[in-house]
Amino acid sequence: MSAVAGCPVAHGFDPLSDEYLAEPYSILNDLRESGPVHYVPSIDYWVVTRYEDIAAILSDPVTYSATVAQAPLSALTDEAQDILRLGLRNVPVLSNLDPPAHSRIRLHLAPLFLPRKVAKLQQRIEEFSKRLIDDFAQLGRVDIVPALTFPLPALTVFRLLGFPDADGEQLKQWCGDKLEINWGRPDAGYQLRAATNMVKFWDYCERFVEQQTQAPGDNLTSQLIRQRESDDSALNDREIASVIFALSFAGHETTTNLIGNALRNLLSHPGLWQRLHADPTLVDSAVEETLRFDSSVIAWRRVTTRAVTIGNVDIPANTRLMLAFGAANHDPSVFPEPEVFDINRENARVQLSFGKGTHFCLGQHLGRVEVRTVIGMLARRFPDLRLAEGQTVTYPRNISFRGPESLIVEWSPQEAAQWA
Ligand code: HEM
Repeated sequence: MSAVAGCPVAHGFDPLSDEYLAEPYSILNDLRESGPVHYVPSIDYWVVTRYEDIAAILSDPVTYSATVAQAPLSALTDEAQDILRLGLRNVPVLSNLDPPAHSRIRLHLAPLFLPRKVAKLQQRIEEFSKRLIDDFAQLGRVDIVPALTFPLPALTVFRLLGFPDADGEQLKQWCGDKLEINWGRPDAGYQLRAATNMVKFWDYCERFVEQQTQAPGDNLTSQLIRQRESDDSALNDREIASVIFALSFAGHETTTNLIGNALRNLLSHPGLWQRLHADPTLVDSAVEETLRFDSSVIAWRRVTTRAVTIGNVDIPANTRLMLAFGAANHDPSVFPEPEVFDINRENARVQLSFGKGTHFCLGQHLGRVEVRTVIGMLARRFPDLRLAEGQTVTYPRNISFRGPESLIVEWSPQEAAQWA
């Protein structure tokens, strides 16, 4: 589908370009200021940029279907499509399923992510964080992504689901392949490898459900299986495997990237890190402002089910929309001085980074607890933590998930030893 009359075309805009990946916000601000919706030929989506419009779209699941949320962004080769069609037997369960079917699945999962349930994971998250930090505390310099921000959320969510720690590395690689296929623009060779690995990832989830049925464990997968003993509407095997396929991905890329974005911002604004060290109560609002200013989910997708008008632009049914959370979260009509990273900002919590309405992020408490825990621990133990000079920070090439691929930090080990 191409642009419709009245809809400006953003010819030069490519959300997978080097320029955008390195610094998306000025580009998104320009787009928002020049109109509410633009057709983007580079991805064949319409991009929506204003806070009010995006909030309204997220609140209307009948008009704006979520079925496209996990669809491959770019055209796949016939070979890759065949591999996925034959091998992936997962069914839509959460972020890409519309109500009313979505409501049944969500009802079964929501109680498992309530704040009091997540609070029970706090101690485990602290233990994981401490163990990972202890491993590098005396080095004085580390790439904090492989050392901490990447393993921590994966350990947390895989343990929650019941996956053995030893499978973590493999699972993380498969999640990376899913990211490329669904949100990136992989070349034909990579498509083939990534599609094959996605099928392996799915097979793993199916086998895991079978195994937990035979030998239940103290984990979320077994809890979902157990629900069948007393509830006719409980999830069947394929739905449970689809849920853990979805959760194992949703639960770590997002959080890894948010920790990285928080660190990068807190360490690049002079004096901020020292304020956090002196006053740990500031950590919560610092995380919230990171979600607004530099979210780990910068865009999400919907498709129209009928003709609509967004702003002053008429849009036909079946139009695919990229909701630019990064533009909405910098909309000056909601956030005064949006380009200022202000950890005392009063309304940072109305950011849209966890979505809104029907699909509002199920893991938002868990994600917040993880990021607050690890940032709090780092600020306490490393008062002079700083970004290594001269590094170029790069970001993964996809339209939604944004966080540093590598972030080298330095500190004085003697100083850290005093706060261990
Ligand atoms: C901390 C960073 C995180 C961010 C920024 C984030 C962001 C999002 C966004 C934007 C959505 C889609 C919302 C919509 O369509 O309206 C979503 C949905 C979801 N997230 Fe998160 N997420 C994070 C962490 C997590 C974690 C840790 C988990 C689970 C362990 C998780 C599980 C989910 C699930 C299951 C959904 C689908 C909910 C539904 O469709 O009902 N997320 N998240």
